[in-house]
Amino acid sequence: MKVAVIGCGYWGKHLLRNFYTSDKWELACACDSNAGQLEAPEKSYPGVRCTTNAADIFADPSVDAVAIATPVDSHFDLAKAAIEAGKHTWVEKPLTSSSAQANELLALAKKHNVLLHVDHTYIYTPAVRKIKQIIEAGELGDILYFDSVRVNLGLFQHDVNVIWDLAPHDISILEYCTGKKPVSVNATGSSIVKYSDRNLENIAYMTVNFEDNSIGHFHVNWLSPVKIRRIIIGGSRKMLVFNDMEPMEKIKIYDSGVSINSREDVYETLVRYRTGDMFSPAIDNKEALAEECNHFFDSIAVNKPTITSGQSGLYVVKILEAAGKSLKNNGVPVTIDN
Ligand SMILES: NC(=O)c1ccc[n+]([C@@H]2O[C@H](COP(=O)([O-])OP(=O)(O)OC[C@H]3O[C@@H](n4cnc5c(N)ncnc54)[C@H](O)[C@@H]3O)[C@@H](O)[C@H]2O)c1
Repeated sequence: MKVAVIGCGYWGKHLLRNFYTSDKWELACACDSNAGQLEAPEKSYPGVRCTTNAADIFADPSVDAVAIATPVDSHFDLAKAAIEAGKHTWVEKPLTSSSAQANELLALAKKHNVLLHVDHTYIYTPAVRKIKQIIEAGELGDILYFDSVRVNLGLFQHDVNVIWDLAPHDISILEYCTGKKPVSVNATGSSIVKYSDRNLENIAYMTVNFEDNSIGHFHVNWLSPVKIRRIIIGGSRKMLVFNDMEPMEKIKIYDSGVSINSREDVYETLVRYRTGDMFSPAIDNKEALAEECNHFFDSIAVNKPTITSGQSGLYVVKILEAAGKSLKNNGVPVTIDN
C-alpha cells in the first residue's frame, strides 16, 4: 500500500523515515505547505513525489493512506478531507482541537469505511507494552493512582499550551494500560513566560478523578532545568516506576505497600508499611514508530481498528478539553461524559 506524509517538520521527518524504510509500506508522497521543508525529503528519498498542496494527495487514487503531522489546529480539516477522499488516516496526537471535531472524524471514518489512527507513539514502546502486561497479569493489584511528571526546557509550541503538547503521551499510556474511565478533571497552570498574545500556559498541574475513585495526576512543564519522564503507578499489591530517561532499567516494580490493621489491633499502629524487593524486567529495544507503521498496515489489511484508533484519540481530547475549561476557571472540577 502507498502512504503520503503531510507535514514534514520535526515529527513528520520521523514518519517519512519510518514509512520509507518499512518493508510493508511504499512511501509515495511528501507534502508540506512550506516548500523549504521539502528540500530534505527530496534529497533523502529519491522517487518520492513532493508537493506543497495536500489536495494533490487527496485527489491521487493510488494513495491508500495519509499521515498528518501538521500543527494541531489543522488536523481536523486535513483529516476530514483525507477521510472523505477514502484514505486510511493517521493523525498526530492530539487528534483534534475539540471533542466535537474528534466525534465528527470518528463518524466520517465509519461512513467511508476507512481506519482513523492516532499516533500515540508511547503505546508502541516495548516499555509501555510491558507495563500493560504487568497490570493485566494482576501483579500490581488494583490500580490506586497514576502519577506522571513530564518536564524539560522547551520546546515552546506556538499553537497549543503545555497540557495539549505533553499530556497526551501520559493520558494515552494511562488509558492503554489501565482502561480507567475519567469522571472529572481539574487543572491549574500559568503562562509564566509570555511569548504570544494567546497566553498559552507553560506549566500546568492536572488531576483526573476516575469512576472507580482512583486518581491520576499529570505535571507538565516547558520551564524545567532538568528533563524528567517519570510515571508512578501505585497498586494495592505492588508499585511500578517507569523512568523513560533510564537507558537500561526503565521499569522498576517495588514490592512495597501498606496494610491497615484490623479493628482489634487498633491500639497498636493503624497502618503497616511493607518495603520488599525491587525487580526490573527486561525490555526489548525496538523503535516504536517502526512498530506502529507495521501495525497501521496490518490493521488496514484485516480492516480492524488499530490499538490507538480514533476512539483513544477522543479519550485524550476529552480530558484535554476539560482541563482547558478548568484552567480558565481557576481549577474548578469539570465533568466528563463517557
Ligand atoms: N507522536 C509524538 O511523539 C510527537 C512528537 C512531536 C510532535 N508530534 C505532533 O506532530 C505534529 C507536528 O508537530 P511538529 O513538532 O512536527 O511541528 P512542526 O512545526 O515542526 O512541523 C509542522 C509542519 O507542518 C507544515 N504544515 C502546516 N500546515 C500545513 C498544511 N495545511 N499542509 C501541509 N503542511 C502543513 C508546516 O509547514 C511544518 O513544516 C503535532 O500535532 C505534534 O503534536 C507528535
